[in-house]
Parts: sequence; structure tokens; C-alpha cells
Amino acid sequence: MIKTKFSLLALGFAALVAAAPAQAAGGGKTPERQNWSFAGPFGSFDRAQLQRGFQVYREVCASCHGLQRIAFRNLSDPGGPMFSEAQVKALAAEYKVKDGPNDAGEMYERPGRASDRFPSPFPNEIAAAAALGAVPPDFSVLAKARSYSRGFPLFLIDALPIPGGAYQEHGVDYIVSLLNGYSKPDDPNWNDYFPGNKIGMANPLGDGVVEYTDGSPKTARQYAADVAALMMWTAEPKLEERKQTGLRVMAFLLVFAGLLYYTKKKVWADAH
Ligand code: HEC
Repeated sequence: MIKTKFSLLALGFAALVAAAPAQAAGGGKTPERQNWSFAGPFGSFDRAQLQRGFQVYREVCASCHGLQRIAFRNLSDPGGPMFSEAQVKALAAEYKVKDGPNDAGEMYERPGRASDRFPSPFPNEIAAAAALGAVPPDFSVLAKARSYSRGFPLFLIDALPIPGGAYQEHGVDYIVSLLNGYSKPDDPNWNDYFPGNKIGMANPLGDGVVEYTDGSPKTARQYAADVAALMMWTAEPKLEERKQTGLRVMAFLLVFAGLLYYTKKKVWADAH
């Protein structure tokens, strides 16, 4: 009886594995995994990569995508791209920010300050949709808002805190694959990885469109990885702090467990 139960269980398991969807929800291809400097418990951002990613955002994506939750000064915060304060000030001043009302009750535009948030390229979603045909989502938390499942049983490994598990980079993997996923030159709206394949954004990248000054390859692939890394930071500006705190807590618990063990040994040493 027990034996049949077991084999039934094994059969069910095998069926589940066989039925594991090879595709992400909605019919896009499953994104490829990338090697991220910020993955894993010891991960941290590659400062130069974040700076390059910001350059890509500013020169290519910012005409359509906003970055509402980020203030200019965040770009100099520890754990981020860490531009200098002078760079941030100069950058902010290049933007026009709506302010007011003034004494006459009117709104007016002024040059941006470090404390301002990034002004969005469109006043609202209706204006964006009218201009582009689809609404470009704000970049601030997009890397966390997109995900995919690698199907059973891999999604279990991704979720559990085991070696190779606790994987949190699905969103950025998806963004990289999406940006590299325009596979039909005669159909600018075809994307292998977009759910449903018909995307309202033509390929924004191409080799050589951004002039890097640090010697990194000026390829669409490099731009995609860099801008995705930046989006991971905008979605979680405190990622490095969180990982460091986690490590400190683990170290503390380890030492504390050791102390408890020796205390217990000492207390009970004479108890026989
Ligand atoms: C000409 C305007 C335009 C530019 C430039 C642009 N995008 Fe988009 N983007 C859009 C629109 C419109 C959508 C919404 C598409 C849809 O929902 O079909 C979109 C959607 C996206 C999405 C979300 C896809 C999803 O899963 O919903 C990502 C990620 C993205 N863009 C990244 C980028 C990056 C990175 C850049 C710069 C390298 C960029 N975009 C440049 C217009 C643009």
C-alpha cells in the first residue's frame, strides 16, 4: 500500500516536471540568465556600470520613460552610481522643472535642483499613449515589477535560500533579453520575449548609439546590460545596504550560537 502511494507520488512528480512550461507566462520566450555583480549575498553594484547605464537611460530611454521616484541627488548616494555632487548639480540644472504657484498664482518652469525628482517626459499616461500608441512604463521600479518563472521544479530552486537559490534577478534578466529580443528586422514590433510578442516599442538600441568613454564595448548588448543594472538600482537603491545588514546579522547569529553552545556545555558540565 505504502509502496503504491510512493510510486504514485513519483509518477505525479515526473508528470509535473514533464509539463513544466518552457515559456514564460503570456507566451514570451523564457529570458536567459545573466551574470550580475549584484547577485547573491555578497553582491554589490559595479559603479562604472551604473554610470554607463545612466548614460544610456539619459541619451536613449529618457525621451519616453520617466524615473519619477528618483531625485537627482540620489545619483550621488552611497550604493548607487555615486556621481559627484558637482556632477549632479550640473545635471539637474539641465532639466526644466515645473514649480509654483508663484505670487500671481501661476505655475512656472525653473532649472532643476539636486533635490528635485526626475521630471517625466509626458505630463500623463494619456498624453504618452497619444504620442506613442502605448504607455511607456516608468522605470523607477520596473525591474522589480517584471518577473518570469523558469517552470517547475526550477522555480523552487530560485525561491529557496539554498546555494544557487534565492534568485532575485529575474526582472533584470527579462529586461536584457527583451532589449536583445528584436529578432525580425521586417517587423519592428516583434519581440521574442515580450508576452504576446507584439510590443509597442521599436528596438531603442543599436550598436554605437551611445559614446562610452571608459573603453567598454559600444554594443547594443552592453548597453542593454548596463541600463538594466541601473534599473535594478532605481528599483532598490538600498540593495547593498540590505545585503550588508543581512551578512552582519548572519555573522552575529553564528557567534551567538557558538557562545550559547559553550555556555550550555559549561553550565551542564557538573550535572552528572
Ligand atoms: C520612442 C519611445 C521609447 C523609447 C526611446 C524607449 N522606450 Fe521602452 N517602451 C516604450 C513604450 C511605448 C513601451 C510600452 C510597450 C507596450 O506596452 O507594448 C515601452 C516598454 C518598455 C519596457 C517594458 C516591457 C514590458 O514588459 O512591459 C521596457 C523594459 C523598456 N521599454 C525599456 C526601454 C529601455 C531600456 C529603453 C532605452 C534603452 C527604452 N525602453 C526606450 C517606448 C520607448
